[in-house]
Amino acid sequence: MKSLTDTYELKNQVKIPCIGFGTWQTPDGNVAENSVRTAIEAGYRHIDTAAGYENEGSVGRGIHSSGIPRGELFVTTKLWNSDHGYEETLRAFEVSMKKLQLDYCDLYLIHWPNPVGIRDCWEEKNARTWRAMEKLVSEGRIRAIGVSNFQRHHIEALLKTANIMPTVNQVYLNPSETQPELVSYCKKLGMLMEAYSPLGTGSLLKDAQLAAIAEKNGKSPAQVLLRWSLQKGFLPLPKSVSADRILANTELFDFELDAESMKAMDTLRGCVHELKDPDTVDF
Ligand code: A2P
Repeated sequence: MKSLTDTYELKNQVKIPCIGFGTWQTPDGNVAENSVRTAIEAGYRHIDTAAGYENEGSVGRGIHSSGIPRGELFVTTKLWNSDHGYEETLRAFEVSMKKLQLDYCDLYLIHWPNPVGIRDCWEEKNARTWRAMEKLVSEGRIRAIGVSNFQRHHIEALLKTANIMPTVNQVYLNPSETQPELVSYCKKLGMLMEAYSPLGTGSLLKDAQLAAIAEKNGKSPAQVLLRWSLQKGFLPLPKSVSADRILANTELFDFELDAESMKAMDTLRGCVHELKDPDTVDF
C-alpha cells in the first residue's frame, strides 16, 4: 500500500480503500459530522459507521457536506442487534440508508453474531438475515456483505446456508489481541480482516515498548500501530475527533516497520483486553 486511497480487493472484486475512518464512540451531532468531513478533506475515502453507533445521521451529513462525489467514497454500515431476521433486516437497511442519505451501501455487515435477543436461535436468525442481505445485493443496493465479531463457529454456521460468501470480518484486532486462529481461518476463506480499535481504543498508545519502537522509526505510537496493521494485511479503522490526529493517522506511507519492530509489536500483550466474547456479550 502506498497511499490512503490504495485498495484491497474483496473476493467479489469490489475494491475497498485500505484505511477506513472509524466512528465508534464518536458522539452524534456536530462532532460526528465535522470529524467525518475533516477525514474526507484529509483524504480518507472510506467511512465506517453502524446503526448501533447511533450517529449515522451525522455521519451522513459529514459525507454529503464534503462535496466528494458518492462514487469516490466507500461507506460501511452495520445491522444492529435488535434487527436480525429477514423482514427486520430489509427494514433496518432502509432506515440506515435514509439516515445516511444514501441510496446504496458499499459494505453492509452483521454487527454481532449472537446478541442477547436471539441467543436461543442465532443460527437461524443469522441465516435469515443473510438471505435478506443477499437480496439487497441482487437488487444493487449493497455492493458487498460481511460480518463483524464473528468467531469461526459463527462463520461455519452461516456458510451452511449462505449463497454469497462473506467478504470481510471486522473484529477487535491490534498487537495486544491478534486472534491468530480466527485470522488464519478467515484468510483461508478469502475474507479480508478489518481491524476495529487498531489503537486499542487509545490505551495501547501509552505502552513503553511501543513508544520505543515509534521513536526508532521517527513516528508516533499511533502511526506505528496503524502501519503494523497494514503490514499484517489488515484494514485498520482508526477513530478520532481531532483534526490533527485524523491527519496524522493518514501519514503511514513514508516508512516501513522492519521485521524486528514487527516481531516486537507482536509480543505487546496485556496492554488492553477489550476483546468481548460474542456468545456472552450482554447486549
Ligand atoms: P480522539 O478521538 O480524541 O483523537 P481506536 O481507533 O483504537 O478506537 O482508538 C481511538 C482512540 O484513540 C480515541 O480515544 C482517540 O481520541 C485516540 N486517538 C486516535 N488517534 C490518535 C493519535 N494519533 N494519537 C493519540 N490518540 C489518538
